[in-house]
Amino acid sequence: MSYTTAVTPGALPLIGHAWPLMRRPMRFAGSLSGHGDLVEVRLGPVRAYVPCHPDLLWQVLTDDRTFDKGGPFFDRVRSTIGNGVGSCPYHQHRRQRRLIQPSFHPERLERYATVMEQEAAALTDDWEDGQVVDVYRALYGTALRTVLRSLFATQFDAEAVAGFRESVETVLNQLTARMFLPRTLQRLPLPVNRRFDRAVADLRRGIEDLVAEYRRGGTDRGDLLSALIAARDETAPDEAAPDEAASDEAASDEAASGGGSLGDTEIHDQVLTMLAAGSDSVAAAVSWALYLLDRSPEVLTRLHREVDTVLGGRPANGGEVPDLPYTGQVITEALRLYPPGWLFTRVTTERTELGGHQLPPGTTVAFCAPAVHRRAGLYDRPDAFDPDRWLPERARALPKGAFAAFGGGARKCAGDAFGRTESTLLLATIVGRWRLRRAPGSDVRPVALSTALRPRRLLMEISARDARTAEDGQS
Ligand code: HEM
Repeated sequence: MSYTTAVTPGALPLIGHAWPLMRRPMRFAGSLSGHGDLVEVRLGPVRAYVPCHPDLLWQVLTDDRTFDKGGPFFDRVRSTIGNGVGSCPYHQHRRQRRLIQPSFHPERLERYATVMEQEAAALTDDWEDGQVVDVYRALYGTALRTVLRSLFATQFDAEAVAGFRESVETVLNQLTARMFLPRTLQRLPLPVNRRFDRAVADLRRGIEDLVAEYRRGGTDRGDLLSALIAARDETAPDEAAPDEAASDEAASDEAASGGGSLGDTEIHDQVLTMLAAGSDSVAAAVSWALYLLDRSPEVLTRLHREVDTVLGGRPANGGEVPDLPYTGQVITEALRLYPPGWLFTRVTTERTELGGHQLPPGTTVAFCAPAVHRRAGLYDRPDAFDPDRWLPERARALPKGAFAAFGGGARKCAGDAFGRTESTLLLATIVGRWRLRRAPGSDVRPVALSTALRPRRLLMEISARDARTAEDGQS
């Protein structure tokens, strides 16, 4: 099979394609496959290759040794939130992943689902008929509390949650923007940089205090932090992947980090990774789903039918997710059109070939899911919102790499089941109890330069539904 390569037109000196990327990220990303299967763009001063063909994206995601995490995005992440499982390089990844994986064991997920259910119920209990809600902000509060309570069974008072919220938001809002800015600008004593540095320091301190408290207590509280503290990597070095065992770098990293368990700094970095990865992603996914549903009455009617039958106006619980397949399809389709994690980078560690094109070591490759998700010919009417694409028989026909909202390969999202369960529970609970209609004053252009692609301001007016009497699903 041969693939086409092209240079994307319209790069400006210094900023490259930053302007269309910031202003209309989905339109820009969606247009890339029209130029070729592998296209060159400029991320600020850096030249990057974007795979727009599912085969090429799959190659990049699954060959994580050659296409290692690095480049402008991960360089900034590491210098900010540390070297957790999501940002560490290949030679440290397998060990870190083995150590965090038990935190997402299905039994633990059941406990987290109870938190999700309670938080979804609390959000929708608080709403009042006729109220106008800034949907992303409300969902962000819910998702952050959910991940905080899943990480730490400890009770947080409102002040502590607000403190975490402010710090996490400040960090996440600037992380992506920082990838386009020269480092010298980020070191200037400007208020924006000071705020950022203070937020990073506050988070660090807050998490360190909690880790110390848990170590003193010494019991498994059933939460994610207990699982991280208890994690033991039983894999002997010679049982590990051959390339991993052979790597001197891996061996010395392991020795430096305490080998078979996670040290305090590592736990801190994992916790920060979960807070960053697990809050705005879910809030953005459900916000886009609500936005799309408001524009698609037929889809909403079908969704109401499913949710009313299964829940009858109650909040959803974790055990009911398999009974809500259409709700799951709506979430997947929202993730296809608006993948919250939409732009990450990789850097080649050796000379390699991608789509027939030779890439020298040190080349930046961008993992930009919407460049494939919105590719004409791969999806019929790629810009249309059609949850039926995800009927199992249709989804099975798609090639690998066609859907990458959770990434792929060894570095696929560790919280994919967590994120899917939470998004499904939230959406089902919301639409079962309330009718949301877009209100004036919204600005749904995506904010590109925050870690999650999200609407700037999605205001929706809320009216109560009575699922027991709703006949056509439109009430
Ligand atoms: C709808 C929700 C979510 C979406 C769309 C999402 C998306 C992603 C994507 C695209 C990646 C891969 C990034 C890359 O390859 O460069 C990733 C990695 C990761 N995500 Fe998620 N995520 C979601 C929810 C969560 C949640 C709830 C958690 C934790 C509580 C989480 C934890 C992680 C971790 C730890 C990684 C790094 C995995 C590794 O490198 O081994 N995510 N996520």
